[in-house]
Amino acid sequence: MLNFSYQNPTRIVFGKDQLAQLTKLIPPGSKVLLTYGGGSIKHNGVYQQVVNALEGFDWQEFSGIEPNPSFETLMRAADLVRREKIDFLLPVGGGSVIDGTKFIAAAAMFAGDAWDILAKGAKISAAIPLGCVLTLPATGTESNGNSVVTRYETQQKLAFSSALVYPQFAILDPTVTFSLPPKQAANGVVDAFVHVMEQYMTYPVNAPVQDRFAEGLLHTLIEEGPKVLNQPDNYDVRANVMWAATMALNGLIGQGVPQDWATHMIGHEITALFGLDHAQTLAIVLPSLLQQQRGPKRDKLLQYGRRVWQLQHQDEERLIDDAINHTRAFFEQMGVPTRLADYGIKADAVDKLVAALQANGMVKLGEHGDINLDVSRQILQRAV
Ligand code: NZQ
Ligand code: ZN
Repeated sequence: MLNFSYQNPTRIVFGKDQLAQLTKLIPPGSKVLLTYGGGSIKHNGVYQQVVNALEGFDWQEFSGIEPNPSFETLMRAADLVRREKIDFLLPVGGGSVIDGTKFIAAAAMFAGDAWDILAKGAKISAAIPLGCVLTLPATGTESNGNSVVTRYETQQKLAFSSALVYPQFAILDPTVTFSLPPKQAANGVVDAFVHVMEQYMTYPVNAPVQDRFAEGLLHTLIEEGPKVLNQPDNYDVRANVMWAATMALNGLIGQGVPQDWATHMIGHEITALFGLDHAQTLAIVLPSLLQQQRGPKRDKLLQYGRRVWQLQHQDEERLIDDAINHTRAFFEQMGVPTRLADYGIKADAVDKLVAALQANGMVKLGEHGDINLDVSRQILQRAV
């Protein structure tokens, strides 16, 4: 196992009727900015519950944070935070609203050009505190320090990470996910699955706690994921998927083990250039990447095939092929197509995507840093 230092400061408040806890969780006397997206929270009753819980606080709101949140919109919110001297941020929504609000938290306190936080990895030394209400289980952003922001003007989708933007608390009420369109619920399952894979599907370092934990999450997502589509009103299914998605990217399973993240980095370019949902890009890239990297990932692919998909073949090459085929079939079963062509993207897009990877410095990806632009090109060609 590799060395590590781990702390996750986010308090998770999980279950039915927990939105009312907001009143106690937000520091008394805070000047609060409630942030949200395109209005889903107004249709499913979440907004009203939040408004009720904010009674007695000095608060205002900022809406219109887009899926794949835009730098342009978030900078308007950061100006508002500065102008109004907001001292607590309350994102209510999916990954985009929470990620976007983490960026607002950092940008509002940043002295220089806030784009540098994303484009140059400029270190932030302060951020407005935040706590969140999660409405879409997928990203794990509710209890991690990551944020991904898109600049529409330049078609760049870039991330930053800081311990300063961990939410202080996250309210996870599975009933708020009943209103998710099936496509978004399925996206969430695929995203969480790939988060586990990014931290598990590398090479063995004798870390059975992390491996067994990761395999347990994969099993849960394989078993419960399809039920989200078949039994959308089943509370237990919603609860199990929600908790699995949080555990997939709250940092725990990634401690002391190598991590990959190439699928995400290549996927971000597909979203930036062609506007696909985040999870759709992952469903396209991961099966191809596993095929391309089957050499370096051989030991873990065999372990994954045997333990997660219960494959028994003697022939190891066939076992690896089947493990990858099962992965692709699972995404398809969730209704998330796995080829670029399924989204109307043609083979000539590969050149553009490779150029974007180059422009953003994504030239040594993966757990070995061996996914250079040529390898990324081959991965994308396999995905056409
Ligand atoms: O904007 P509203 O009206 O709220 O509607 C949203 C949006 O249209 C809707 N929605 C959310 N909760 C709902 C709901 N509709 C009905 N009922 C509900 N309960 O769903 C749509 C998609 O929301 P979005 O927040 O964009 O989805 P998701 O949670 O999948 O977040 C995706 C973003 O997270 C980033 C992605 O790159 C992408 O920008 N990621 C963040 C990560 C992190 N911070 O650690 C890791 C991930 O790998 C990912 O990169
Ligand atoms: Zn993801």
